[in-house]
Amino acid sequence: MPGHTCPPFIGRILLSPLRRLFENPDRLFSSYIKKDMLVLEPGCGMGYFTIPLARMVGLKGRVIAIDIQDKMLAALYQRAIKAGVSDRIEIRRAAGRSLSIDDLAEKADFAVAIHMVHEVPDQQAFFREIFKALKPGGRLLVIEPRIHVSRKKFTESLDQAGQCGFMISPEPLTGLKALLYKHHHEY
Ligand SMILES: C[S@@+](CC[C@H](N)C(=O)[O-])C[C@H]1O[C@@H](n2cnc3c(N)ncnc32)[C@H](O)[C@@H]1O
Repeated sequence: MPGHTCPPFIGRILLSPLRRLFENPDRLFSSYIKKDMLVLEPGCGMGYFTIPLARMVGLKGRVIAIDIQDKMLAALYQRAIKAGVSDRIEIRRAAGRSLSIDDLAEKADFAVAIHMVHEVPDQQAFFREIFKALKPGGRLLVIEPRIHVSRKKFTESLDQAGQCGFMISPEPLTGLKALLYKHHHEY
């Protein structure tokens, strides 16, 4: 559904503690996120995943949280302060169709794009930017909502990512979830 953007009232609903029952951030990320990592989170919304990510990367790690909506980022900022992790979160506003991460070339260890790829109008440009920002061997976890995205659309998105150089992890992940790799070799 490119062109549709999640409104702030849904952003608030997505913060519900009940969400932990089916999308528990610790369970989702524990095998990927390590202390001191630099993690990218495009489409962070109000930060349901950002705050736990910030706790997982620890004092010396950093989460770069990016969104196109000021209201999402303002709410995230307040929540980060309240949680005591604002110093580990860098908030960025995506400018137009760009994530504004040119300065991060090969710096990021891990990226997560959760329930947001279907909202991105130019998915190739999106995946290309993330690919560039990841270190060789870096990974991107993509999760899409089954309520909005068909398996066919999801496969099309993964094809776009593949065209940007990403390899898809062979490990089986349930639902509309995929782990994409930036290979160690040059393309
Ligand atoms: C459905 S919300 C998901 C928020 C969060 N990832 C979560 O799962 O709670 C999608 C978010 O992606 C953001 N978004 C949409 N297109 C974007 C783009 N091109 N770049 C960055 N953020 C985008 C929206 O503003 C919205 O906050």
